Amino acid sequence: MRKVTANVYMTLDGRGEFPKYPGYDLPSGDRDDPDEFFRRMWTDRYSDVTTVVMGRRSFTGHRRVHSLKGRKPNDPKFLFDYSRFLDRVEKVCLSHRLKKTDWENSRVVKGDLAKIVAKLRKEKGGNIIIEGGPRVVHEVLRRNLADDYWFLVMPVVYGRGPRYWDPMIAQTNLKLLSASHMPYGELVLHYEAYPQKAASRSK
Ligand SMILES: NC(=O)c1ccc[n+]([C@@H]2O[C@H](COP(=O)([O-])OP(=O)(O)OC[C@H]3O[C@@H](n4cnc5c(N)ncnc54)[C@H](OP(=O)(O)O)[C@@H]3O)[C@@H](O)[C@H]2O)c1
Repeated sequence: MRKVTANVYMTLDGRGEFPKYPGYDLPSGDRDDPDEFFRRMWTDRYSDVTTVVMGRRSFTGHRRVHSLKGRKPNDPKFLFDYSRFLDRVEKVCLSHRLKKTDWENSRVVKGDLAKIVAKLRKEKGGNIIIEGGPRVVHEVLRRNLADDYWFLVMPVVYGRGPRYWDPMIAQTNLKLLSASHMPYGELVLHYEAYPQKAASRSK
């Protein structure tokens, strides 16, 4: 069975934003090496992941910035590797508005997210990452559609932006697999979801 992982980028108060904070823009490793968060969420997974799912806004943003065509010559090598990975894998763009996309190896899908994820699980391929944006990930969290979750928690109480923790359908229990922190106070948390009944995902 294909494993579904959701990547969750959030402030301490649970907002899906990328605020500025002391050190946020400083590379934490060598120029050619990703920091721990990037490595755990992406680099370590290049060999097992074959599908990346994104909402339309995140998809168009990633295509503009992170496809190989969008790379700047001075970008670090690990970002070129990331772009090659993204260009290569199958990308699922969630959208009612778009009919097609011009990013290679991509398709547009619409409908109920639980059904889309269930269908993807049955298709041939490796593991799946749900990358965002916050609206899509909120739905994944609300209905516990993923098998595991990587959280990057930024040390900021931001007070605005999309919320990940609106009222949930039911209690979700998660098992902590790893917890670490990065030099500027970001937490990197990896949780596995306990298996749950399909019925609770369908609400
Ligand atoms: N990981 C991340 O990507 C991330 C993290 C933090 C912050 N952000 C920021 O958040 C912004 C985008 O986030 P967002 O939450 O507003 O947008 P998003 O989740 O990327 O995209 C939302 C759009 O996805 C489509 N969609 C979602 N579910 C669908 C479904 N089941 N069926 C069909 N279409 C579906 C809809 O597009 P249509 O209108 O075409 O129907 C919807 O308007 C970006 O500016 C980004 O910088 C991103």
